Amino acid sequence: MTETTTKLQGTLAAPADKSNAPAGDDETGSHYLGQFIPLHYHHNMLMDEHRMGAFKAAIDHVVFDGARVLELGGGTGVLSCFAASRASKVWCVEFNPELVAEARRLLPLNRDGHKVEVVHADAFDYLPPEPVDVVICEMLHVGMLREKQVEVIEAFKERYRRRFGGPQPVFIPAAAILAVQPLQQAYDFFGFHAPIIQFQQPQVIQAGTIELAAPAVYSIMDMSQPVSRDIRWKGTFVLERDGTVNALRFVTKNILAVVPRQSATIDWIISYLVLPLGEPVEAKAGDALQVTFSYLAGGSIRSLEKNMRAVVKAAGKG
Ligand SMILES: C[S@@+](CC[C@H](N)C(=O)[O-])C[C@H]1O[C@@H](n2cnc3c(N)ncnc32)[C@H](O)[C@@H]1O
Repeated sequence: MTETTTKLQGTLAAPADKSNAPAGDDETGSHYLGQFIPLHYHHNMLMDEHRMGAFKAAIDHVVFDGARVLELGGGTGVLSCFAASRASKVWCVEFNPELVAEARRLLPLNRDGHKVEVVHADAFDYLPPEPVDVVICEMLHVGMLREKQVEVIEAFKERYRRRFGGPQPVFIPAAAILAVQPLQQAYDFFGFHAPIIQFQQPQVIQAGTIELAAPAVYSIMDMSQPVSRDIRWKGTFVLERDGTVNALRFVTKNILAVVPRQSATIDWIISYLVLPLGEPVEAKAGDALQVTFSYLAGGSIRSLEKNMRAVVKAAGKG
């Protein structure tokens, strides 16, 4: 997801909230809309070469001739169509009626589109009529926030086990690596001070960003294993330079597929998320900065933002 495809809140009515969110949290209602993306963002997603290239490579690698494939959250049907080049049958499940119509318009324009059955259903409920070899799900957002990737996959694994037993299908993405990094971030916009939520293109030098330490991994999610929604982290950075720690940057690398023969992975790094800290701290090179935060996968960005803290625990020498 580049900045142009950052998934903004859609306009559809939300289905019943299934997040089992704790009362008093803002994990109910409007954030559920976050996973429903206006049609033009889907078109931007098609134009995002990093995203498309990585998914195409992963699907080409994982889907074998004659495979049966399920896609949860199919959108325009593009990933299902990639899978259909080898698969014998693809079920493409989409809840948003506008996207169901778009997938049904676009798939017949493609050579293997006839192998894809677009199913208008909720990915939280749907099971294919027979066991499948591969499940594709791209309900991804940085930090696994907002969209329901983790909940949808976990619910699917349980339903699938009850209906079909084992083994589980192969998942695309196979895993995710989540990291965090302390920053000094500029929040001056032509003289207007605004500590705001920002998305940044990965691996691009950001003029207003000073990295105060290297990123630290706070979670590794292996989709073939049970994955908890509950993310809590406490870690310590030794700062590499003096600065005002006023933001945390969240970095998510999606391991779409593992290629053991080449000892390699097919990855997609989603846009970075930079969140301003409520209480910035002055710090010096060598200081030990303790960072804590917690959130639920699928939860709102605000729910993470309000639970972030950074404090200098030990002053460095000099
Ligand atoms: C990020 S888009 C990805 C679309 C497409 N797979 C692609 O890669 O271009 C996620 C899709 O999941 C759909 N979605 C979200 N929640 C869903 C649910 N509970 N059931 C079915 N589809 C859902 C959204 O409407 C959206 O089309």
